[in-house]
Amino acid sequence: MDHDLTLDGRTAIVTGAANGLGRAEALALAQAGAAVVLNDLAGPGVHAVADEITAVGGRAVACDGDVGAWTTGEAMLAAALGTFGGLDIVVNNTGVLRDRMVFTMSPQEWDLVLRVHLRGHFIGTRLATAYWRDQSKRAGGPVYGRIINTSSEAFLLGSAGQPNYAAAKAGITALTVTTARSCAKYGVRANAICPRARTSMTADLLGAAPAGGADPLAPEHVAPLVTYLAGPAGEAINGEVFVVHGGVAAVMDPPRVRTVFRTADASMWTLDSVAEAIGPAFTGDGSAAGFACEDTLSLASETIGSVAAPREAARPGRDVGSRSRRVSPGRTQGSARDQRPGRVPAPGDHVLRDERRADHVLDLPQVAEGAQPRARSAHFLPDRGRRGVLRPAGRPRARCGQADR
Ligand SMILES: NC(=O)c1ccc[n+]([C@@H]2O[C@H](COP(=O)([O-])OP(=O)(O)OC[C@H]3O[C@@H](n4cnc5c(N)ncnc54)[C@H](O)[C@@H]3O)[C@@H](O)[C@H]2O)c1
Repeated sequence: MDHDLTLDGRTAIVTGAANGLGRAEALALAQAGAAVVLNDLAGPGVHAVADEITAVGGRAVACDGDVGAWTTGEAMLAAALGTFGGLDIVVNNTGVLRDRMVFTMSPQEWDLVLRVHLRGHFIGTRLATAYWRDQSKRAGGPVYGRIINTSSEAFLLGSAGQPNYAAAKAGITALTVTTARSCAKYGVRANAICPRARTSMTADLLGAAPAGGADPLAPEHVAPLVTYLAGPAGEAINGEVFVVHGGVAAVMDPPRVRTVFRTADASMWTLDSVAEAIGPAFTGDGSAAGFACEDTLSLASETIGSVAAPREAARPGRDVGSRSRRVSPGRTQGSARDQRPGRVPAPGDHVLRDERRADHVLDLPQVAEGAQPRARSAHFLPDRGRRGVLRPAGRPRARCGQADR
């Protein structure tokens, strides 16, 4: 393995490591040479993953407990320092869903999701950065620290049925950027991923893997980017947000100023001058969310299948933009006004919802028929609303396999 890609001698914490993406990321980090501290809720799952790693010569310990509890964070850090002598990498991954519209969501559903995602990410970040800052001060210079946080396209889009989840993921993204800015001088690099994968979280939405061949939505296809960001080569990447699934990774642009409004005579705003300056720019029916980013939906078609047709809506200061349309099997959503031209599911279409549930329904002809993504050449394409799209030169890598270092 190339020296810049190896994690030999590094120690990583991975939360939510018993299943899905966390398990795949833990196996990949261990395969790259890292010793891993694995967290998940108490139960056999996280211990089984640790056993899977140690059975093939890797180094792993399980540290179970609620990731939203401060004591769990302290125990993970203590396990890393006590068992492996240090901490270099934190992969905050744990997640849970309690989907409901904002007008029916209970405070408990809100609190649980915010606790597991946002507080969980905070605790892992808080303890690790304090440790690295202290190490840096002792060393008199930067040390090695990597944080990979787990956000979601649900935040980018403003997923209608997931106000708790989208808000938590927005918070995680902001936490990532804050950490990147405040801790770079200590040697810390913090980045976030918005993954897509067929896991227990998305099982009822994405369905079963295609029979035969590699599954383009296997969590193993997300793990290589996480491992790369965790490695020495990740030194140059900080405060970024990647959408990643299958053989596609898009690095997102930060929000940008779209239009600047000013008073006519450089005076302060009055109600009348607001109406005069801003009013003419917003002439639509107001039913679409202006801040939502839907650019990554087109990427979904590369590993998932075709995405339901975009809806057009005008944004001030910008040409007509796109809005995605929610389409369910055999029916369409919204008022007659919302029924825009585009692809409408026909009988027999493979239609299902994505992880954001309430916003989109994707159809999966490729996946359902077991077809694999076509070979792609390596390139980096600047594009509106996302900084670039990265694709591997061939088909997405196959499963990472066992941690057989
Ligand atoms: N699967 C996707 O398509 C997708 C898309 C976007 C974002 N994500 C994010 O990726 C992360 C992993 O999701 P996944 O799809 O692998 O889900 P998953 O359900 O397969 O795994 C989540 C893990 O977190 C654990 N967990 C839940 N609550 C916990 C707690 N309080 N303390 C410790 N562990 C806890 C679960 O036991 C489980 O092992 C989540 O943050 C999720 O929001 C996933």
